[in-house]
Amino acid sequence: MDPALIKSSFSAVQPHGTDVTAYFYDHLFEHHPEVRGLFAEHLDEQRDRLWAALGAVVSNLEDTPTLVGMLQNLGRRHAGYGALPAHYPAVGASLIATLEHFAGDAWTPEVEASWAAAYAVISSTMIDAAAAAGDPIPVG
Ligand code: HEM
Repeated sequence: MDPALIKSSFSAVQPHGTDVTAYFYDHLFEHHPEVRGLFAEHLDEQRDRLWAALGAVVSNLEDTPTLVGMLQNLGRRHAGYGALPAHYPAVGASLIATLEHFAGDAWTPEVEASWAAAYAVISSTMIDAAAAAGDPIPVG
């Protein structure tokens, strides 16, 4: 994973604003209609939060303790939204398709490989935290 490639491609996508998140949710719900019911009917506020969270992840890519803490909290909250481990690859595929759509010339095979590696770490950190939160707290 190359943080510089993640950051430069994310910057190339950012000027497209809310078109990016609209495209992401359309892509996700078209390919995985089974997850639509987990989300609120009106997504406006949700769109901003997802984008802000991704921006925070990208800004903290090289600050592992901050990144891990943020993703663990996000993962624990996602268990409460009904997000299952099996949903993460679906979201990752739509995320990468969206970035590719808007990144233009900034999108290369190396950029795609970096995002795939980053998403693997992001999703496993979120999933592990959600699973750990579901375990009984050890006593003593
Ligand atoms: C990179 C991975 C992901 C990021 C950065 C992300 C980000 C966010 C953020 C920031 C929120 C707003 C609430 C909060 O902060 O707790 C949210 C809500 C939510 N996310 Fe995610 N998410 C990710 C993956 C997923 C996955 C895999 C699913 C499974 C389908 C999912 C489903 C949801 C749902 C259902 C909500 C609540 C929506 C609502 O209230 O309508 N997310 N997500």
